[in-house]
Amino acid sequence: MSETIILGIESSCDDTSAAIIKGNQILSNIAANQSIHNEYGGVVPELASRAHQQNIIPVVTKSFSKANIQQNDICAIGFTRGPGLLGSLLVGTSFAKSLAMSLDVPLIEVNHLQAHILAHFIEDANPTPPEFPFLCLTVSGGHTMIVLVKDYFDMEIIGKTIDDAAGEAFDKIGKIFDLDYPAGPIIDKLAKEGNSNAFKFNKPRLDNYDYSFSGIKTSVLYFIQKEVKKNPDFIQEHLNDLCASIQKAIIEILMNKLENAAKDLGVKEVAIAGGVSANSALRQAMQDNQKKLGWNIYIPKFEYTTDNAAMIAMVAKLKYERSEFTDLRTTATSKYDL
Ligand code: KG4
Ligand code: ZN
Repeated sequence: MSETIILGIESSCDDTSAAIIKGNQILSNIAANQSIHNEYGGVVPELASRAHQQNIIPVVTKSFSKANIQQNDICAIGFTRGPGLLGSLLVGTSFAKSLAMSLDVPLIEVNHLQAHILAHFIEDANPTPPEFPFLCLTVSGGHTMIVLVKDYFDMEIIGKTIDDAAGEAFDKIGKIFDLDYPAGPIIDKLAKEGNSNAFKFNKPRLDNYDYSFSGIKTSVLYFIQKEVKKNPDFIQEHLNDLCASIQKAIIEILMNKLENAAKDLGVKEVAIAGGVSANSALRQAMQDNQKKLGWNIYIPKFEYTTDNAAMIAMVAKLKYERSEFTDLRTTATSKYDL
């Protein structure tokens, strides 16, 4: 039997992406990022959906040409149904529905968060895929949670943020420093030149595996306001140290709960996923725990960390094998539980 070829489409936030998967192997993974949001300090939903409309046809066309696949070769189309920005999701959903109808292939809906986690099963994602059950710290601009993954489609959220997501904290703190959006990768880069012990910020105290990031954002804001009153150039003069110290605090908060969860549940298979899993300090902390705590760690390749259609195609392939198809009357949904 020839291998399944599937087109995946992702448009939940500000990246328009299309990918072709054959079996578990990604043949192409094309993304158009929307630089239009940089100057606004965050994603502007209306601008995002318009940019998706402009990008979707060129991105899908390129995914076919890069993979050297004809439209008639595909067995199904997977698309992100949610969660995300409704206007953005609508573009990918409508496009996927029309193409599925015209090619007469099944349509497969994909949960964006499941996709971040299941990206670990893409052929070149890891030397060996994680074994069930594993813990996955899923950290992005919209979500921060510890997920116990019992099987491909059997996931339990054991802890999550009660306010801001970790990526949101990076982005909002970056805005205080007048950095472009998204600030996460910029803070990561500047932190490399800074002293992570230069400044201390209070950490939240929550009993369970839940997170909170709004407090650290506010304490950075008050601290900066106070210092800038004394020295207007404070941010510029200490930017690298500030970035390194904030990054250290955020990563410590994330890892602390993950370590508690792994210990309490007796799980040693531990993965990270989502945009913030690109962070070098988080990746380093995982590697340290591999040695210190004997974890088997799963760190995504950079192209599978931030939003991408390869992960959507991967989930679509798993659902295709289970004949889990979606009715053409489906609609996008901004909220979509795991
Ligand atoms: O998964 P993603 O692309 O989109 C969502 O589903 O939200 O994640 C985007 C988030 C942004 O908040 C961005 O600042 C953050 O991931 N991010 C990073 C890094 N790269 C992306 N945060 C910290 N360090 C990075 N290297
Ligand atoms: Zn995402």
